[in-house]
Amino acid sequence: YRTLRVALLGAGSVGSQVAKQLLEHGDELASRAGTRIELVGIAVRDVDARRDVDLPRHLFTTDAQTLILGADVVIELIGGIEPARSYLLQAINSGADVVTANKALLATHGPELFAAAEQVGAQLYYEAAVGGAIPIIRPLRDSLAGDRVNRILGIVNGTTNYILDRMDTEGDDLESALAAATALGYAEADPTADIGGYDAAQKAAILASLAFHTSVPHDAVYREGIEGITKEQIDSARKAGYVVKLLAICERILDPATGRDGVSARVYPALVSRKHPLAAVHGANNAVFVQAENAGDLMFYGAGAGGPQTASAVLGDLVSAARRHVVGGPGVAESTHADIPVLDIGSVLTRYQ
Ligand code: HSE
Repeated sequence: YRTLRVALLGAGSVGSQVAKQLLEHGDELASRAGTRIELVGIAVRDVDARRDVDLPRHLFTTDAQTLILGADVVIELIGGIEPARSYLLQAINSGADVVTANKALLATHGPELFAAAEQVGAQLYYEAAVGGAIPIIRPLRDSLAGDRVNRILGIVNGTTNYILDRMDTEGDDLESALAAATALGYAEADPTADIGGYDAAQKAAILASLAFHTSVPHDAVYREGIEGITKEQIDSARKAGYVVKLLAICERILDPATGRDGVSARVYPALVSRKHPLAAVHGANNAVFVQAENAGDLMFYGAGAGGPQTASAVLGDLVSAARRHVVGGPGVAESTHADIPVLDIGSVLTRYQ
């Protein structure tokens, strides 16, 4: 066994959870990968800033570049374009695998990062960039690689789903529902990114690129936000049997100019039948409804934001990266552990709410 050295960039709500989980459960994750995992440092702008979680002070540094140079895997949770882009390129060029939750960066500089990784044989993992805890990147990239995706309908922004849901179920107006979403910590630092549909458009670009094996930049995504949605519109939608949802719609369509396949990616408030599974997505949850030629309809559902939730996806990526570093190791989740007993408790649990 050798040790996998992990550098963490950023200690916000997701980063501090990733560090906490790694320090508390690193051995368990390591046993799944077949290598030791060591968090070698956490790069932040201000070592003394207040954080959600108490972490050992000696791990913190303001020198991201030196930290990156000594790492096998770099986890970027700073967000935004720069310096995240430069750090990730530096990590890739030094031969490290990288894990990121940075939807804005992937939606604008994805091709540059993927090309850099390909050139040096590094891997770029980004399960946490869309849908928080929901596994959606691997299903689209791996599980459905043998199928043909025709359409994705995604509720990929928790803040706007929370707001629209409150307007529908509590009769709130947009402003008070936004205040509640911000207080709960769902909204981006600048809620315009949520309300205006920009955050959803970045995620749509990532999903469409993956699903249709092409490159869809975020500015090629048609976008409308929920700013103009009124209580009256939501009420009349309800009376007609619909609910208003901000949808990311990614479709394979015919290009009228050439008669060949094209891709459309759009984000706007849409009417969803109350009988559709997406209508049951309440609060800040996310869901991605995928229609594929052979698989038919699939839905991926869960928490789209939140520190521990998004950290779950980041740590899954870290285990994948760690497995890749184990020479002759399983490479996939095949390592088994015979030390956990199977208990027979009969049908004790019968009710699921
Ligand atoms: N502001 C985002 C949301 C956070 O509300 O979904 C997760 O990307």
